[in-house]
Amino acid sequence: MTIAFIDLAAQQRRIKPEIDAAIARVLAHGAYVMGPEVRAFEEQLAAFAGSKHALGCANGTEALVLPLMAWEVGPGDAVFCPSFTFAATGEVIPWLGASPVFVDILEDTYNLDPAKLEAAIQATKAQGALTPRAIIAVDLFGQPADYPAISAIAKKHGLKLIADSAQGFGCTLGGQHPGAWADVVTTSFFPAKPLGCYGDGGAVLTDDDWLAERMDSLRVHGKATASDIQGRTFDHDPKYLNMRVGLNSRLDTIQAAILIEKLKIFADEIEKRGVVAERYAAGLAGSGAKTPAVIQGGVSVWAQYTIEHPDRDGLAAHLKTQGVPSAAYYPMPMHTQACYSIYPQPGGLPVSEAKADLVLALPMHAYLDEETQDRIIAAVRSFNG
Ligand SMILES: Cc1ncc(COP(=O)(O)O)c(C=O)c1O
Repeated sequence: MTIAFIDLAAQQRRIKPEIDAAIARVLAHGAYVMGPEVRAFEEQLAAFAGSKHALGCANGTEALVLPLMAWEVGPGDAVFCPSFTFAATGEVIPWLGASPVFVDILEDTYNLDPAKLEAAIQATKAQGALTPRAIIAVDLFGQPADYPAISAIAKKHGLKLIADSAQGFGCTLGGQHPGAWADVVTTSFFPAKPLGCYGDGGAVLTDDDWLAERMDSLRVHGKATASDIQGRTFDHDPKYLNMRVGLNSRLDTIQAAILIEKLKIFADEIEKRGVVAERYAAGLAGSGAKTPAVIQGGVSVWAQYTIEHPDRDGLAAHLKTQGVPSAAYYPMPMHTQACYSIYPQPGGLPVSEAKADLVLALPMHAYLDEETQDRIIAAVRSFNG
């Protein structure tokens, strides 16, 4: 039998009647955009993550641009982010005319290195061409970044902190979600994400009332908010007042309805992913492949199970012959791509560059059965690279 890298069908089998009924309800009421399921899901999502506000949006990329737009980040501003990440993390910064400043990662967790972040901020300030405004930390492969250290640096320098939790939504550090430290948490509901929908979707979560209201306005073409219209009278429907330049970034009602059903089983799925990760760690011990490390006190949602091997490409080719799919995330860190190489990378990014040649993600999902996983483990162990 072929092995799935991520088995979305297995999850669907578990909750198919509930998903079918949820979609049918949306078809019956017909409020396809900003229907009742969107608000209901936002409330449940906020409760899950312990945040005051959650707002759905079109995808995890626009989730990142919404807070940057709210804070009016623009030309001459610097936003610090890792390079060893999916392109969306850094991509949204030049959208606004601002400059990403790429920062290297830690050897063991692949997440932002706080010491290098501090050095990059100092170097940017000393250079004087850009104004530091914000940091985007990424919960890469599902585990939380070092938020206590990163948020202390953000506070020290007066910078905003975004947690790009597209891969890590649901992860915790010392029992707390990234929103305990970050000004805003962003996530993606791309189908392959730990909490995915059946298309594109995303969300922003924050405890900050002002930011929530501003992002709510921005996701609907800069619509007037309650604060905007308070105490004012208009001779036309304030619905068509555009108070600021925004965009159209809404979560579809059908996707929200699907996500309500998926959120019900998400905590259980996180646990199941943890069991799969533990079995991998035990099964691959002494195999020549390095298994992943999680930050102390952290719980990963294991968006990816990423091993390292000195002959990564040889191992991938061998696994393919054994019918085991694998993927190299990410073979080219952002700063090595031509269109991003023009942006600052103070001190260089040797760890990101080294990891790009070593990492290999193995099949990972909540429904990976032991027999299939043992086949994968045996395939890795049988590689004589
Ligand atoms: C780290 C990271 N940030 C942002 C995104 C963007 O999410 P989306 O594909 O929903 O735009 C992704 C996902 O693809 C991601 O992995």
